[in-house]
Amino acid sequence: MSAVDFIEQNLHPDGSPACSIVNETAYDERAREALLDRAMGTTRRRKSSEKLRRGRLPSEGLAFVARDANGSVRGTVRLWDIQAGHDAAGKPVRALLLGPLAVDPALKGQGIGAALMQHATAEAGRLGHGAVILVGDPEYYERFGFSGKKTTGLAMPGPVERRRFLALELKPGHLDGAHGLLTPKGRRASHAMRVLPVSLRFSR
Ligand SMILES: CC(C)(COP(=O)(O)OP(=O)(O)OC[C@H]1O[C@@H](n2cnc3c(N)ncnc32)[C@H](O)[C@@H]1OP(=O)(O)O)[C@@H](O)C(=O)NCCC(=O)NCCS
Repeated sequence: MSAVDFIEQNLHPDGSPACSIVNETAYDERAREALLDRAMGTTRRRKSSEKLRRGRLPSEGLAFVARDANGSVRGTVRLWDIQAGHDAAGKPVRALLLGPLAVDPALKGQGIGAALMQHATAEAGRLGHGAVILVGDPEYYERFGFSGKKTTGLAMPGPVERRRFLALELKPGHLDGAHGLLTPKGRRASHAMRVLPVSLRFSR
């Protein structure tokens, strides 16, 4: 898939494209982290979900940004490979963890979050994944098909409000009987990439 893959477009009232959902590139890291700090605050790094992401790379082909007409990053979403415990037969259950999802506060309510969600879950399905799990407000995520029905036997590696522990099956029945702890399964970020400051890693 092209790095500049026009999948969804949000249109200004005058019809000009406001944002396109495209695959994230290495050059987007600094802008993405600044956006996340702006939208969610720096305490975001203490969330239980972070334990499933720290030191890992997102699932192959499943990191997206919303880019405005100037090329600036105005939204972000990524999905991460995890194990969602075991099924009733004791077989490991593979799944994706979604997050963080964030949109530039200046552009809230324009459908960018929905476009990111729809694109991310569609791509995850296209790539053959069976389910997506996240921690977030059901009042927002239910519109994309997420619910707490399939997470009742699962646990996060840290505190979580049960009502915010949600899943979406991309293959029907994929999470049937899934029980146990969520654990990280993503590709490890290389040591060199983690110790170098961002400015050295991605300076153009
Ligand atoms: C949540 C977020 C990604 C939504 O992005 P967005 O581009 O504004 O969302 P959309 O335009 O697709 O949808 C807007 C709708 O979602 C609703 N909404 C947004 N956040 C919500 C929430 N936490 N709970 C319930 N509804 C929410 C808005 O009220 C609006 O409702 P309406 O369509 O009835 O007017 C964005 O507000 C954000 O970045 N928030 C801070 C980061 C965050 O909290 N992320 C995790 C969310 S649990």
